[in-house]
Amino acid sequence: MDAAQNSAAVPPEQVFDWLDAEANRRAGAGLTRRLRPRPAAGAELDLAGNDYLGLARDKRVAGASAAAALRWGAGSTGSRLVTGSTELHAELEHELARFCGFQAALVFSSGFTANLGAVTTLSGADSAIVTDKYIHASLIEGCRLSRAGIAAVAHSDVAAVKHALSTRRTQRALVVTDSVFSVDGDLAPLPELADVCRAHGAALLVDDAHGLGVLGDGGRGAVHAAGLAGSPDVVATVTLSKSLGAQGGAVLGPRRVIRHLVETARSFIFDTGLAPASAAAALAALGVLKSEPELPGKVLANAARLAEQLTDAGFRVSRPDAAVISVHAPSAEDAVNWAARCAEQGVRVGCFRPPSVPDGISRLRLTARADLSESDVDSAVKVVSACAPPRAATS
Ligand SMILES: Cc1ncc(COP(=O)(O)O)c(C=O)c1O
Repeated sequence: MDAAQNSAAVPPEQVFDWLDAEANRRAGAGLTRRLRPRPAAGAELDLAGNDYLGLARDKRVAGASAAAALRWGAGSTGSRLVTGSTELHAELEHELARFCGFQAALVFSSGFTANLGAVTTLSGADSAIVTDKYIHASLIEGCRLSRAGIAAVAHSDVAAVKHALSTRRTQRALVVTDSVFSVDGDLAPLPELADVCRAHGAALLVDDAHGLGVLGDGGRGAVHAAGLAGSPDVVATVTLSKSLGAQGGAVLGPRRVIRHLVETARSFIFDTGLAPASAAAALAALGVLKSEPELPGKVLANAARLAEQLTDAGFRVSRPDAAVISVHAPSAEDAVNWAARCAEQGVRVGCFRPPSVPDGISRLRLTARADLSESDVDSAVKVVSACAPPRAATS
C-alpha cells in the first residue's frame, strides 16, 4: 500500500483511535492524569501548590494585580517587542535584577518560556550543553531545541560535569542545572559547578524557580546565596509563579546576555508579553518580600518540621533544602490513591509519577508555605500517615 491508500483507508472518526489505545496503556500503568478544578475558596489544607510565601491571595498582591488590569488592560496586547512592553514590565525587570543581584533581567510570559529562551540562545549547534539529568522539563525542551551536543550527566555529580566539559569538542559550552530540584527539593552544588565551569571556560545557567523567595539573604535566591549573582559568566532563570504568587518568568544575567535574548530568543519575540496584571502582582510580591524578610525562614522551618515528622512516621522522605519535600510511594497507582485519600481528608498533596520523575519512582510531593501554622503541619502529617498505602512506611 502506498501512503495515499494508507490514509484513505482510515475513516475520519477513526483517525484518533490511537489516542484511546495510548490512554488505555497509561491507565494500565497507573498514569492517568485528570484535571481537578478547585473552588475559589476551599477548606482544604494546600500542600500541593507552589505559593510558598502565601502571596497569591495576599491583598497587597492581588489588589495590585486588579488595579493594573483596570489601568493597563486585561492583556499586554502584543509581543514584548511590539506593544507588549509596559512601564510595569520595565519596573519589574529593574526591581528583579536589583533584588537578586544581577545587572539586568528580562521578563517572559512564563518560567517555561524563559528557560526555552535562555537555553536555546546561550547555546546552539556549535556549542556543547552539559546538564544534570534531573533538570526541569522546560530546560530539557530547551536543550532539545538548541541543536547543541548534549551530555546529561548523573544527578549532582560535579566530577561528571567536569569530565563532560573537558572532553567536549566545541569551544563554547553551557552547564545547565536547577538550583533546587523540583521533585526531591535538593540543592545543586552551585559553587562547585561554578568552579568547574570557570576552569573549563563554560557558562553556567541556573534555574532558580524554587530558590527565589525561599533561599538566600531575604529570599534573594540560591544563586545569590552561592555568591554567584552578578557574575559575568552566570545566568539565572526564575518563575514569578511560585514564591511571588503571580505568573510569568524571567532571565537574570549580564546586560549583554539580556540584550542577546531580546534580539534572538524566539520564545520571547514570538510570544505575547506577560499580562500587566501579572507583572504588577510580581512587583507587589517583591515589595512584600523586601518588607518581610522573615518569610523565607518560615517556609524553611515548616519544611523541616514536615520532613522530620514524616521521617519519624517511617516514610522515605527527601531532605528539604528549600520548600519541596517528597515521600516515596510503592507504585504509581499507590501514589495516586494516596493523594486522593489525603484530598478526601482535606489535605491536598501533589503526586509525581513517570514521566515527571527522573528515576521512575513515584512520590507524594508536599510543599511547605510560610503561612502554615505548626498545627497545620501536624495535622497534615497525621492525614498523610493515616492515608498511606501498605508498604509506604519503611520501618
Ligand atoms: C524548576 C522549574 N523550572 C521552571 C518551571 C516553569 O515555570 P512556569 O510554571 O512559570 O512556567 C517550573 C514550574 O513548574 C519549575 O519547577
